[in-house]
Amino acid sequence: MKKRILFSAILLIYIPLISQQNKLHIPDTLSGNDITLTLQKGSFSFFPGQLTETMGANGNLLGPTIMLKKHQQVKLNVKNELGEPTTMHWHGMHVAPENDGGPHSVILDGNTWSPSFEVLDHASTHWYHPHLHMKTHDHVQLGIAGFIYVSDAEERAINLPRTYGIDDIPLVLQTKAFDDNNQIIVAHTASDHTFMVNGTMDAYYEVPAQVVRLRLLNGASERVFNIGLSNNRTFHMIASDGGLLSAPLAMTRLLLAPGERAEILLNLSGLEGQEIQLINYGTEIPMAIYGATRPGMGQNQTIPGYAENPLNGADFEILNLNIIQPTNNPTTTIPASLISHNPWAPNEANTTRQVTFTTMGGITGPFLINGQHFDMDFINFKVPFENIEIWEIRNQTPIAHPFHIHNVPFYVLDINGNPPPAHHRGRKDVILVPGGNAVVRFITQFTDFHNDTIPYMFHCHMLTHEDDGMMGQFIVEAPCEAIKTQPVSTDNKYGEQAQFTVETFNPQSSTYQWETNVGFGFQTVQNAGQYSGAQSATLTISNLTSANNNQLFRCTVASDGCEMKTDVVTLSTFSSVAKVTSNAKFYLDVYPNPFQSSFTLKTEGLMEATLYVYDVKGKQVHSQSVVEEITDIILPKLKTGLYYGIIKSPATKQSFKLIKTD
Ligand code: C2O
Ligand code: CU
Ligand code: CU
Repeated sequence: MKKRILFSAILLIYIPLISQQNKLHIPDTLSGNDITLTLQKGSFSFFPGQLTETMGANGNLLGPTIMLKKHQQVKLNVKNELGEPTTMHWHGMHVAPENDGGPHSVILDGNTWSPSFEVLDHASTHWYHPHLHMKTHDHVQLGIAGFIYVSDAEERAINLPRTYGIDDIPLVLQTKAFDDNNQIIVAHTASDHTFMVNGTMDAYYEVPAQVVRLRLLNGASERVFNIGLSNNRTFHMIASDGGLLSAPLAMTRLLLAPGERAEILLNLSGLEGQEIQLINYGTEIPMAIYGATRPGMGQNQTIPGYAENPLNGADFEILNLNIIQPTNNPTTTIPASLISHNPWAPNEANTTRQVTFTTMGGITGPFLINGQHFDMDFINFKVPFENIEIWEIRNQTPIAHPFHIHNVPFYVLDINGNPPPAHHRGRKDVILVPGGNAVVRFITQFTDFHNDTIPYMFHCHMLTHEDDGMMGQFIVEAPCEAIKTQPVSTDNKYGEQAQFTVETFNPQSSTYQWETNVGFGFQTVQNAGQYSGAQSATLTISNLTSANNNQLFRCTVASDGCEMKTDVVTLSTFSSVAKVTSNAKFYLDVYPNPFQSSFTLKTEGLMEATLYVYDVKGKQVHSQSVVEEITDIILPKLKTGLYYGIIKSPATKQSFKLIKTD
């Protein structure tokens, strides 16, 4: 045992000296408002003198890094020249479902797909990859994947390295399987024997002797990496999937599952001339994780070909860093703090969803989500727009699965009931759910986008599992929009008639029910007319008298499967010719009501108004000007009983009943 450790230690130190390493490939960058990715077939020389057939974006392998700024407008043109259909997903980005590039947004060969949107993400490291159902693993393995850097004002205000390729370096960690002809195997085997970073095998890179930022992406189809530095040197993690943490975290190991990103800072100040290795400490990966010595919970739970794969349970070098002289304006310190986070509290959630993983065939799957195989036509969940939800992910299989959700980043609440480790307390969109009945809970809110036909995906980010059906989909439902035009309060002379009209968006299947206040509740207005299927409904009240003064009305409108109540409107009647000039509405709230000695008036959208209070005989008992949105009205001397309040401004008025109690 001792010998083996010594041997690998020597290997780690001397490999750079005895063999010619390859300089790390750094992808080009693309920025601006109009970005084009051309997906193409090509060939690439992974092995000297040998060509391997590949796929890439704007090149033979991988794709350019897309540089975006929060709030910029961007149009992404994805040109498919692969000779077969695919899709392009912006992993981690908060975009509308029609712009998300999931399996429903197929780009046929020869076509260009051009989603266009405002970037809403926080500063973060995202990535793009194809997402065609049952082909995601193939297209990523063959080479299509690229980084998306998003920056924002908050991030730019922090002293962080951000010179691309110099002190801000993208690193996509991947493994591939090759056949005897050095061609990429896309079949689902466990023979991903070859490790590469940015498509470079056995890579080195020159980095300046200062603080350097590494943006790590696990772009492998299945493998989990356990990242550390040689000599167990400390690094500082500053960002997870969805952007910056609240403060840099000093760490020596970081487990990174497929789809996950992490940004780390290395303080290389004063180390010019030295070499440091980024290492996968595979020997330390807990069992039942792809990449550990054993992929399953039990001794005999294994995947065909897994034990023979030399990368499993092994320590190997990711990248050799040759430290050179510092740049002109180097970053030399690690910031003390980063950004603040305000995660939703569990009691804010409106819904808790259960997501359970099971297996049909032991450790090799296929794996199911809630007993379902992915089906393009089956919607697993309908999420109300802006809902705050807890998702409870339960893994009843013997292997860990990285769970990913599209559209919204989440905050991990707990893992097996314990608070998440510090590096999982920022925004995330992938979380590794351990095997053997582990439960991970996260909380999120489905903001900004809804679409009743195009779903978002959630799935295991082991691409072989995803392609085998370990995926589900959800729709964020449009908010209820039954009412197009609201009725308005009216003011009419005795003897006249009053009318209230409500209009719907879609007359098909529309129904209307008018109600008026009786005491303190609303009751259906009889003989209000039949308007089912009509675009609008009008309620007429004729022969108005003083008894109609301050009568309240509202209408329940159902249309397109959703039901809404209109605003409450007031019918005022008068005997003189005093007339309100317009019916502009404002929001009014009176509380408490009944009141004892005072009540509060809340008015929104109103300027310079006067409150009048009348008793039941019509005698004015109080008046006061209302200039604030919230006004306390103090009336301790009023006798108990019923009163009417009227708020009048030059443009509008509204009345309400008031009850004074002891
Ligand atoms: Cu990386 Cu559904 O995506
Ligand atoms: Cu995604
Ligand atoms: Cu999985």
